[in-house]
Amino acid sequence: MAIDNVFRKLVSHCKEYGFVFQSSELYDGLSAVYDYGQMGVELKNNLKKYWWDSMVLLNENIVGIDSSIFMHPTIWKASGHVDAFNDPLIDNKDSKKRYRADVLIEDQMARYEDRVNKEIEKAAKRFGDAFDEEQYRTTNERVMRYQKQHDDLHKRYADALNANDLNELRQIIVDEEIACPVSGTRNWTEVRQFNLMFQTEMGATSEGAMTVYLRPETAQGIFVNYLNVQKTGRMQIPFGIAQIGKAFRNEIVARQFIFRMREFEQMEMQFFVRPGTELDWFEKWKALRLKWHLSLGFGEDNYRYHDHDKLAHYANAATDIEYNMSFGFKEVEGIHSRTDFDLSQHEKFSGKNIKYYDPELKKSYVPYVVETSIGVDRLILSVLFGAYKEEELENGETRVFLKFPPAIAPVKLAVLPLVRKDGLPEMAREIVDEMKFLFNCQYDDKDSIGKRYRRQDAIGTPYCVTIDHQSLEDKCVTLRDRDSMEQERIPIAELGKIVSEKVSLTSMLKKLNKA
Ligand code: GAP
Repeated sequence: MAIDNVFRKLVSHCKEYGFVFQSSELYDGLSAVYDYGQMGVELKNNLKKYWWDSMVLLNENIVGIDSSIFMHPTIWKASGHVDAFNDPLIDNKDSKKRYRADVLIEDQMARYEDRVNKEIEKAAKRFGDAFDEEQYRTTNERVMRYQKQHDDLHKRYADALNANDLNELRQIIVDEEIACPVSGTRNWTEVRQFNLMFQTEMGATSEGAMTVYLRPETAQGIFVNYLNVQKTGRMQIPFGIAQIGKAFRNEIVARQFIFRMREFEQMEMQFFVRPGTELDWFEKWKALRLKWHLSLGFGEDNYRYHDHDKLAHYANAATDIEYNMSFGFKEVEGIHSRTDFDLSQHEKFSGKNIKYYDPELKKSYVPYVVETSIGVDRLILSVLFGAYKEEELENGETRVFLKFPPAIAPVKLAVLPLVRKDGLPEMAREIVDEMKFLFNCQYDDKDSIGKRYRRQDAIGTPYCVTIDHQSLEDKCVTLRDRDSMEQERIPIAELGKIVSEKVSLTSMLKKLNKA
């Protein structure tokens, strides 16, 4: 299946089955803003709970907060967002389309990487078991040429970013002969900086109104509350504060569905540590966060780290965890060692002492911070890519199913009376009435049983039970597994216990804790 095809299918599947809708669709939509439907919101809530519990329940020294979206505007001056939260943008003079200069260059690097991978794939097929990839990479001329083009571009790009050299970014685009995908021309403007924060006014009168920002990250709400939490929660370093909430960025290039949105949600955790220990903590959190992603079960090969080419001026280490989406490996989560930059800036701009007194060291200092920052929507996209399966059945039909981890699936159990008569619907309703206290259930009695299974597969329901005439006699039902499609007969009296165990978030958390 062609790569773009997978993406297109996924997007239409999300709409057809109530996962994600374009915002304001009735009014022709609002660009890069999306709404979650009846299935999407369940999936989202389950993923948020898995993240929250893995932070706040599993770690005695991590607590949560929920800070507001509006904050004092000086916070954004102190954090550097007012002056430096910019994207480099470039316009094509013919199509009048605007692009991020860095994205155009990164796409070009991805093209070189693609060429290398295609050559390797072809050779692997040709040579079969005898294929030695390492040797091929270091001896095949074409592969070496593409790799060199990639590496040279990578170096030049990283240097330009680090030097904040906008002219050089433009020159790279010109030298690489990157064309506008719409007009096909290379008629580019200069590269300019564009601030991503949304502004609005707070206050009743225009004279008295104050310009405030919609937060572009949730992290600052944690920084400005860290001492409140530390003191009231009697937290001792090292400790963490976790938060889930909306963030807003006026993205120039808003595309790829819920990958890059103007309104999105973040799950961030700031971990406050002693100065000098931050790089050890950075490594620990880097490993822990990858382990969390892997626990979703979508395969090690689909994840990779990507160390930042350009470290923000306040960071001394930064990496992304990327997922293999159909349009390439893309960032889902960032892990950043932010030093004492943010807290020191808030101390400076507020004029208040926000140092931590370390009872063991018997001295005060500004803690260093390691943050883990994941976008909920990107996580959902990675989970959808990982879960989406098409399978050819014995009868020649194709079934589409979403292979979510059961604990994350929007609906856990579908209860299906075989026919709409003879007391079977009543029995099914009784079962739903009991099970609904344990997990999310759906009752469905429309269409053939095959069609009903397909509908449940399409929303990723891990278990279905059918109630047949024999159920009236033996008080047993047939439990069907989404992935294997195997069926087993089980007593109704044990249904709640059996399914609860299979769909338990607690079991998933225990596994994560052990791994
Ligand atoms: N506090 C650090 C911070 O905000 P970031 O790398 O800018 O770091 C963190 O963002 C995560 O937020 C990203 O890894 C991504 O998952 C998500 N994210 C950022 N911008 C986004 C956007 N426009 N749409 C969806 N998710 C976004």
